[in-house]
Amino acid sequence: MNYGYFDDSKREYVITNPRTPEPWVNYLGSPEYGAIISNNGGGYSFVKSGANGRILRYQFNSFDAPGRYIYLRENSSGSYRLLSRFPDICRHGTGYTLMETAFCAVRAEMCFFVPLGSRHELWQLKLTNTGSSALSLTLSGYAEFTNNSNYEQDGINLQYSQFITKTVFEKNRIRQLIHPNLSEGPDSDGKRVEERIFALLGGSVSSYCGDRARFLGSWGDYEHPLGVARGNLGNVNCYGGNGCGALSCSLELLPGQSRDFVFLLSACGAKEADEICAGYENISESCSVELQKLKAYWYSRLEGLQIKTPSKEFDSMVNSWNAYNCFITFTWSRAASFFYCGLRNGYGYRDTVQDIQGIIHLDPSAAREQLEFMLSAQAKNGGGLPLVKYTHTPGRENTPDDESYRRETGHPAWRADDALWLFPTVYKYICETGDLSFLDENIPFADSEEGSVYEHLKRALQFSENRLGDHGMPAGLYADWNDCLRLGAKGESSFVAMQYLLALRLMKEFAAHKRDADYILHISSEESRIRQVIEKSCFAEDRYIRGYTEEGKQIGAPGDETAAFWLNPQTWSVISGAAEGERAELVMDGVHEKLNSPHGAALMMPPFRADAFEGALAVVYNPGMKENAGIFSQTQGWLVLAEALLGRGTRAFEYYSENCPAMQNDKAETRQMEPYVFGQFTEGPLSPNAGRSHVHWLTGTASTMMVASVEGILGIRPDFHGLRLSPSIPSCWDELEIKKRFRGCALNIKIINPKHAESGFSRMQVNGRSFDEPYIPAEFITEETDILYEI
Ligand code: GLC
Repeated sequence: MNYGYFDDSKREYVITNPRTPEPWVNYLGSPEYGAIISNNGGGYSFVKSGANGRILRYQFNSFDAPGRYIYLRENSSGSYRLLSRFPDICRHGTGYTLMETAFCAVRAEMCFFVPLGSRHELWQLKLTNTGSSALSLTLSGYAEFTNNSNYEQDGINLQYSQFITKTVFEKNRIRQLIHPNLSEGPDSDGKRVEERIFALLGGSVSSYCGDRARFLGSWGDYEHPLGVARGNLGNVNCYGGNGCGALSCSLELLPGQSRDFVFLLSACGAKEADEICAGYENISESCSVELQKLKAYWYSRLEGLQIKTPSKEFDSMVNSWNAYNCFITFTWSRAASFFYCGLRNGYGYRDTVQDIQGIIHLDPSAAREQLEFMLSAQAKNGGGLPLVKYTHTPGRENTPDDESYRRETGHPAWRADDALWLFPTVYKYICETGDLSFLDENIPFADSEEGSVYEHLKRALQFSENRLGDHGMPAGLYADWNDCLRLGAKGESSFVAMQYLLALRLMKEFAAHKRDADYILHISSEESRIRQVIEKSCFAEDRYIRGYTEEGKQIGAPGDETAAFWLNPQTWSVISGAAEGERAELVMDGVHEKLNSPHGAALMMPPFRADAFEGALAVVYNPGMKENAGIFSQTQGWLVLAEALLGRGTRAFEYYSENCPAMQNDKAETRQMEPYVFGQFTEGPLSPNAGRSHVHWLTGTASTMMVASVEGILGIRPDFHGLRLSPSIPSCWDELEIKKRFRGCALNIKIINPKHAESGFSRMQVNGRSFDEPYIPAEFITEETDILYEI
C-alpha cells in the first residue's frame, strides 16, 4: 500500500493520501531559524535551539498537533475547514512544502518555507474561486506560541510559564511578549523580554485572537475552533494562560478570481517585524522570487552527482533524497526532529565526522569547513570530545578527564572510536579535491596546543595505541560505534581494531606523501601487529568476534547462546582490509545466512537476555529493536559497501534494496516511516512488527548509504592523483550513466555491461583514448571528460 509517489523532475515527494501511518515530515530553514513540518501541518519552529529557542509549540509523540493551521470559512453556509491538516495533496520538496486543498469551490494552494538565510517563515497561500458564483469567505491563520522558549518548561512548569506571557495586536499582526514586565537586558537569571510575531500580509485583519483558550473555545479542538466556526475571532489578547497568534481576514472572491496571502511567523521585535513585512509588498512576486532562490540553492547543492540506472528508486535516492537527507543531517546534526527534541546541545563526534562523508562528493568546501571544526574538537591526547558543544572554543575546552566537562555534557568518559572516523573522512576529502596541502593546515586542539592535520591524525592513532587491552586490541572504553557496548578500559573491541587497521593503512598513504620515513616504519609495524592480533584473537571458525569483556570473555563466539554472530566485525573485516578473498567471502556469506531478512540484516543474533554481561547495555531493548538484534540502518550501508568492495554487485544491491526507503514505497503499512528518508533502525524478524522503521531523518545511515552507493555500487573511487572506477552492480543491469562534478570538471561516465557481470573491467575509453586500467590520472581529466567503461 502506498500514500504517495516520487516526482523526480521536481525533486518532490507527493503525498496523495494524508492519513499516512506516521507524520511524514520535511525540514525548512536551518538551525538558525528551523522549522519542521509534517504532511498534516504538524511541527514546530525554533531559533538556534530546538530545546531552548522553541517558538511554535508541538506535542511530541501525540497526534501530530498543533501545527501551522490555515482555515477557510464560507460565510453564507457557515461551513469551514482546516486546510492544512489532511490536505488533498502535500508535496515535500527541498526546503519547502506545498499543500493543496479544495473546499467549497475554492482551490487553496499553500506553500510553507523559510526564505534562504532568513529568520522568519512564510505560509504563503493562494485562494482561487473555481465555481460560478461569488463567495464571501473568512480566512484564518493560527500559530500556537510556546509560553517559554525552553520547550520542557513550556510543557511542564505551568505554574510559572502560564503567567509570563501576553499578546498585543498591532497593525497586521499579533505580537507575543514573554516576560514583558522585565526591562530590556537579561536579569540576573538570564531572563529577558522575548518577542514573537504572527502577521498577515495581503489583506487586512478583520478579527484577531491572542489567547488559545478563547480561540478554541471550551472543549474546542484544532479542527473546530470556536473563533473560526463563528467567523469572528473576538478581538481578544492573551494576558497569562496560553498565547497564540490567530488572525482572520474577510474577503469576497469572484468566479475565477485568485488572491494571495501570507502568514508570517518570526521571533523578532516590532521594528524588525516592520522591516520584514515591508519586504513582501507584492506578495506573489516576492514569494516566488524567494522560493526560486531556495530551489536554486538546493538544486545546485544536489547537482554534483546525477545518475541514470535501471533502478528508478536508486536514482531518486542518489540524485535527490539521500543527498538531501545527507545535507539535512550534516546541517542539523541530531538537533531537532519528531524524535530529537533539541536537548543535546552539541555535535556528537562520531556522528558528525560520519555525516561529513555524505556530502564530500557534492560540496567539498562545506565538508572541509566542518572537518576543520571537528579537528579542532580533538583533544591533544588524540581523542575526540564525545560531545562538541555548540559554543565550542578550540584551545580552551575541558575534556572527559575534567569534572566540569562531564557535568556539563553528561559524557563521563572517552569513547574508543571517535577520532578514528577522521581517517576515512580526511582521506575522502583529500581524494575528492586532490588538495593534499590540507594535511599541512594548522588547527588547534580542543584543550590546548595546535598542530597540522597530519599531526592531528598521528595523535588519533596514538590515542588508540595508548589504550590497548590484554590481546593488543584497542580497548572498548565507554563505547565504540555501538553506544550500547561498554567494554571499559580492559575489554577490547574488534570493530575498533578494524577501524584502527584502516586508519593505519590510510595514514601510510599520507605518510608516504609526506616522505615521513621513520613514521612509515612505525605504522607499518603497527599495521602488521594489529593484523596478526585480529587474525589470532578475533577470527573464530567462520566469523570475526565482536571483542572481549573486561573479564576476558569473547563476545560473539561460535556456540554462544546469545549475541553469537555480529554484523559489524564481518563487514569491517572487508572494509578495513583485514579479510580478503575466500576468508572475506566466508564471513560475508555467514552474514547472509545468519543475519539477513527481507528488511535487512540484524546487528547481531540472537539477542541479549537478562543474563547478558554487564557492558551489554542493549539488553534493555525488546529483542529485534535497536542494538538488541534490530536492523540498525547505518550498518546496512557498511554491508552494501563491503559486498561492493568484494565485487559482489548483485548481493550489494540486494542489501541496498532491503533497506532503500524508496523501494518500500508500496509497503508503507509495514515500514510506516517516510519512504523518502532513512531512519535509525528497522525492527528485525524477532519483532511482531518486523520491517517497521524508526527515528527518521537525522541518522548516520544517510551518509553511510551515500558512501555505499557512490563508492560501492557506482564504484567512483578517487585517490590523491586521479580517479579509479570500479562499479559493482546487479548483473541484470545493461548500462548506467553517471554525471559527476569532479575537481572543477564535468565527468560524463557511461558504464556498459554486455556480459552481464556484476563487477570487473573489460575496457575503458576516456575522451576517445583507450586505457588498460580502470584508472584515470588527474591530468587526463578535462573540463568535459567523456568516459566509456565496459564491465
Ligand atoms: C545512534 C548514535 C550513534 C551510534 C549508534 C549505534 O545512531 O547516534 O552515535 O553509533 O546509535 O549505537
